[in-house]
Amino acid sequence: MDFHIFQTPEEASHSLARGIASLIKRCEVAGKRPVIGLATGRTPLALYRELVRMHREEGLSFRNVITFNLDEYHGLGREHPKSYWRFMHENLFDHLDILPENIHVPRGDIEPEDTVRECQEYEAAIADAGGIDLQILGIGRTGHIGFNEPGSGAHTRTRLVELDPVTRADAVADFGDLSAVPEMALTVGCGTILEARSIALMAWGASKATVVEKAFLGPVSDDVPASFLQDHPSVSLYLDEPAAELLAAGCEEKHHLSKD
Ligand code: F6R
Repeated sequence: MDFHIFQTPEEASHSLARGIASLIKRCEVAGKRPVIGLATGRTPLALYRELVRMHREEGLSFRNVITFNLDEYHGLGREHPKSYWRFMHENLFDHLDILPENIHVPRGDIEPEDTVRECQEYEAAIADAGGIDLQILGIGRTGHIGFNEPGSGAHTRTRLVELDPVTRADAVADFGDLSAVPEMALTVGCGTILEARSIALMAWGASKATVVEKAFLGPVSDDVPASFLQDHPSVSLYLDEPAAELLAAGCEEKHHLSKD
C-alpha cells in the first residue's frame, strides 16, 4: 500500500488528478478505453475541480473514458436535487467531453422487484467494459467504502443496502433533516471494488483520522469494510495531515516495536 500525505486536500487531489491524466493518456496510446470508478461526497470535490480545469486549460479529453459510480440513494430519481446522478453531472460530467453513454450510476428509482436485475446488470456492464482500471474511493466514518457498511463481506456484489445511522446522520448536512435522508442505497460490493486493478482512497480532516487508522493499521475485518483494501495489491492512500495523524503515529509505534 502506498501512503501519500499532503498538507492540503487540494495538493493531494492535484496529485491524484495527474495520475488520472496519465492513465487516460497511457490508454490512448495503447488504443484502450480507461474505465474509472468514481465516488461522490465532499471528499472528491477538489479532484473533480482539478479534472475540469485540466480538461478546460490543458485539453485533457474524456471522450474515451468510461465511468462507473459506486452508489446511489434508493428512492431518488436521477433529477432529484440530492441524487448522486445529479451530483456527478453538476460537479464533473457536465463540464467534460465525456460521452453520456459512457457514464454509469446505479438507478435509485427502481421498483423493488427490479432491484436484483438492476444490480446484476450493473455488474455485467462493468465486466463488459473490461473491469475497472482505477477505482476512486472516499471513506465513511463507519469504515464504509461505497455504501458497504460494517458487516459487508469482502465478496459482496452490487446490491441494495441499509445505511448505517452514523452515515445517515452525516448526510443530514446535505438533506437538511434526518427524516429526508434515504434509509437505503444501491452500492457496488466490496468484492466489486476489490476487483479494480488499482484503487486510490482519499480522506481529509481530523474527523477521518480514527477510521483511517482502524482501516489501515487495524485487523482486516468486516467491522471496517475499508480494511479489506489492505489485501489488495495496488492501493494508494491520498491523505491530508489531519486525516493521516493517527495512522502516521501508529506506523511509527509499530516500527519502534519491531526494532526493539
Ligand atoms: C460516495 C461513497 C461514500 C463516501 C463516504 C465519504 O459515493 O461511496 O463511501 O466516499 O461516505 O463521504 P464524504 O466524502 O462526504 O466524507
